[in-house]
Amino acid sequence: MISLRTALVGCGKVGQIHAAALASLPESQLVAVCDQSDDRAAGFAARFQVQAFTDIHALLRDARPQALLIGTPHPLHVAPALAAAAAGVHVLVEKPLAATLADCDAMIAATHRAGVRLGVISQRRFYEPVRRMKEAIDAGKIGRPILGVFEMFSWRDRAYYQSDPWRGRWDTEGGGVLVNQSPHMLDLLQWFMGDIEEITGTWGNLNHPYIEVEDTALAMLRFKNGGLGSVVASLSQKPGLWTRVHVHGSNGASVGVETDRGATFVAGVSDIAEPPLNDVWSIPGEEHRLADLQTEDRARFRQINATTHYHALQIQDFLRAILEDRPPLVTGEDGRAVVAMFTAIYRSQRERRPIQFPPLSAE
Ligand SMILES: NC(=O)c1ccc[n+]([C@@H]2O[C@H](COP(=O)([O-])OP(=O)(O)OC[C@H]3O[C@@H](n4cnc5c(N)ncnc54)[C@H](O)[C@@H]3O)[C@@H](O)[C@H]2O)c1
Repeated sequence: MISLRTALVGCGKVGQIHAAALASLPESQLVAVCDQSDDRAAGFAARFQVQAFTDIHALLRDARPQALLIGTPHPLHVAPALAAAAAGVHVLVEKPLAATLADCDAMIAATHRAGVRLGVISQRRFYEPVRRMKEAIDAGKIGRPILGVFEMFSWRDRAYYQSDPWRGRWDTEGGGVLVNQSPHMLDLLQWFMGDIEEITGTWGNLNHPYIEVEDTALAMLRFKNGGLGSVVASLSQKPGLWTRVHVHGSNGASVGVETDRGATFVAGVSDIAEPPLNDVWSIPGEEHRLADLQTEDRARFRQINATTHYHALQIQDFLRAILEDRPPLVTGEDGRAVVAMFTAIYRSQRERRPIQFPPLSAE
C-alpha cells in the first residue's frame, strides 16, 4: 500500500479524532502536528510520535507533508489552507469549509491553481442509512425528490460555550447553530435534493443569553428541480431530542434518517450515544424493510466506535482520492454550497427578502 505523508493543524477536540485516524489508516503516514499552543502540539506529538510545530509555514517547509487536515476554529481554516495550497499540499478541512463565501472562494481558487485536492469533512455522508437514502433517491425509487426537511432539536449548555474562548461570538466563530452544528445536515439536504434556487430565512437567540450568535434558525427553500424544503435547527431543547433529514418524493414515497438522537455529540467530550437509523422508509414494495434496516444499523453500532469510525472513512476516502487522482466524495465546492446556505439565511433576515442562488460573496 502506498501511503501519503500527512499532517494536521489544530490539536484540539476534533484533532484527537483526526490524529487517531491519520495514525492508523494504511494510506497515511502521520509526520507532524501543529497548534498555536506549544503544549497542545507537544502533547499530540508525544502521543503520536511525530514532529510538533506552532507555525504552519515551518511545518510545511520542514515536515514536507503531502496532505494537511485542518481542525482550527472556522474563521481560521482559510490561512493554513492557502499556505498548504501554495506549498503544493492537498487540503482536507473541517466543516464548515470557512465562515465566509470569500474565504471559500479563495481556498477553491488556490487549490485549483496549485493542482491539489480540496475536501471538507461531512462524515454523516458515510453513515449507512444516509447512503441507503442517497442510493434510493438516485435510483428514482421516490420519483423526484420534491420536499426535503431538516430538523434539529439539540442542546448546548453554558459550559460548552465557555470551553473555548472562540465559541458563541460572531468574530471568532462566524455564527451559531447554522455555522457550527448544522453544516452536516445542510450538506445532506442539498446532496439529496440537488441545487438550490432560493432561500428565505430567519434566526434568533431563544435561550442562550450568554452568547452573541443564534441558537435557532429557520429557513424555507426552493430547489432548482421545483422541490421545496425547510430547515428548523435549534440548540434550545434540553435534553436534546433528535436531528433528522427526511425526503419526500413525487410518487408519494418518503425516506428519512435520524442522524442523531438526543443532542449531537461534542467531539473530544461526548460520544455518539445512539445509532443513526432510517426512521422513515415508505418506498412502494419496500415498506417491510424498515425494521430489518434498523436491526442491521443497531448491530453495526455495537461493533464500531461511531464517533471515530465515520471520520476515518472520510479521511480515507480523501487520501484514496489523491492516490487514485479522482475527486473526494465531499469536495470544496460541496463545502462552499453549505456556506452559501447559511450566508443566505443570515442575509435573508438582514435584508428581509428571499435570497436567490448562488448568493454573491461580495454582497
Ligand atoms: N466533523 C465534526 O463532527 C466536528 C466536530 C467537532 C469540531 N469540528 C470542527 O473542527 C474545528 C475545531 O473544533 P474543535 O471543537 O476541535 O475546537 P478546539 O478549540 O477544541 O480546537 C481548535 C484547536 O486549534 C488551535 N488553533 C487555533 N488557532 C490556531 C492557529 N492559528 N494555528 C494553529 N492552531 C490553532 C487551538 O489552539 C485548538 O487546539 C471547527 O471548525 C469545528 O467546526 C467538526
